[in-house]
Amino acid sequence: MLAGKRILLGITGGIAAYKIPEFIRLLRAEGAEVKVVCTPQSLDFVTPLTLATTSGNPVVVSLFDAHSGTWVNHVELALWADVMVIAPLTANSLAGLVNGKTDNAVLVTALCTRCPVVLVPAMDHDMWEHQSTLNNIQKAEAMGYALMRPEYGALASGLIGQGRMPEPPAMLQFLTLFQQCHSWWKGKKVLISSGGTREAIDPVRFISNQSSGKMGVALAEAAYCAGAQVTLVRTRGSKMPYFKNINCIEVETALQMQSAISGMANEQDVICMAAAVADFRVDQPSLQKLKKKDQGLNHLIWVENPDILKGLAQENRPYFLLGFALESNGNVQDARLKLLQKGADALALNSLTDSGAGFGTDTNKMTLITHDSTYELSLKSKTEIAVEILNIVAECKLKSSQV
Ligand code: PMT
Repeated sequence: MLAGKRILLGITGGIAAYKIPEFIRLLRAEGAEVKVVCTPQSLDFVTPLTLATTSGNPVVVSLFDAHSGTWVNHVELALWADVMVIAPLTANSLAGLVNGKTDNAVLVTALCTRCPVVLVPAMDHDMWEHQSTLNNIQKAEAMGYALMRPEYGALASGLIGQGRMPEPPAMLQFLTLFQQCHSWWKGKKVLISSGGTREAIDPVRFISNQSSGKMGVALAEAAYCAGAQVTLVRTRGSKMPYFKNINCIEVETALQMQSAISGMANEQDVICMAAAVADFRVDQPSLQKLKKKDQGLNHLIWVENPDILKGLAQENRPYFLLGFALESNGNVQDARLKLLQKGADALALNSLTDSGAGFGTDTNKMTLITHDSTYELSLKSKTEIAVEILNIVAECKLKSSQV
């Protein structure tokens, strides 16, 4: 998906610069063209020869050569790029960037870009948490820069904390999704449910369903890379997201899911109910393991779980509400009825009869229904489906704000 994209990589002087040749290698393996501009300080951590060899292009460190009188046209370089990524971005260069400083080749080039610029800050934990850095990050976001936040983990100082640059495969995945998702998502708050709820029968048994959590996680990851602040309410045992900065809340039962979601619902811009929620639970799960000889399993009393989606569909809600539906036949008329019954803004329908769609698969085929349109999403990876869903929701929101 990055094939043919022109990626301008800005490198500033942090230890994480040693990971950049690997990142370049991954970008080029995807078919992207890469050019590198870096600060003199970054060359303490990675050599120009390595960067030139991996990128296949000369590396720009200084805009002028005092001996030959030649200069690099930084404006041309900036306008060449489809996207600029500054990784690692030190606290110093971040401060320079948000204050319009141009004292190194990375900053002066960044200032000339017309394309999106993705910042990947990396620094020690206390520098990252310092009020001046937080202020600069806030300013950078307000100025329109995209941000891939540092992760929690081992730092060069020996400390453990927030500040670590994500690994190159995570940066690649981020950039790929960032490039495909609508910019409407930047700064939005999104809550996504995923996985199948489990309802206890006794301390060893439960009733659940086949949901793996893959569809919900794909949505969470795409929304995160599009710049949203994402909370994923996921069921125990279901898939975990790849990006560590997605806020995950683990639940087990439908009641727990309902309580986790309802507490945060009104803060959200969008809620996506991709979870497969059990419609029923056992009234009073046994505290002891039910014995076969007592035939306890034959006398379970079932009660209905609350319909979380329906409960969220209150009037004047501040959020866009997207429901999911898994049907045996994929009948669009039935799904349209369900959309009305549930009171959601849109419904993503997948069918058990479509091979490669629904539970557990890495792919999906869906029909996305809104109150005035129907969108057919052909069979593709759940990640690609998630991107399409997010882009349709963004268009719906933009359309409704124009009315
Ligand atoms: O997790 P995967 O393996 O990737 O599979 C993805 C998926 C098939 C689970 C997903 O694409 C999907 O279809 N999720 C919804 C499945 C489902 O529960 O469908 P439903 O028709 O029973 O429910 C309709 C909607 O109501 C859903 O948004 C559901 O979250 C919600 N619901 C249902 C029951 C209930 N008590 N409360 C609810 O909120």
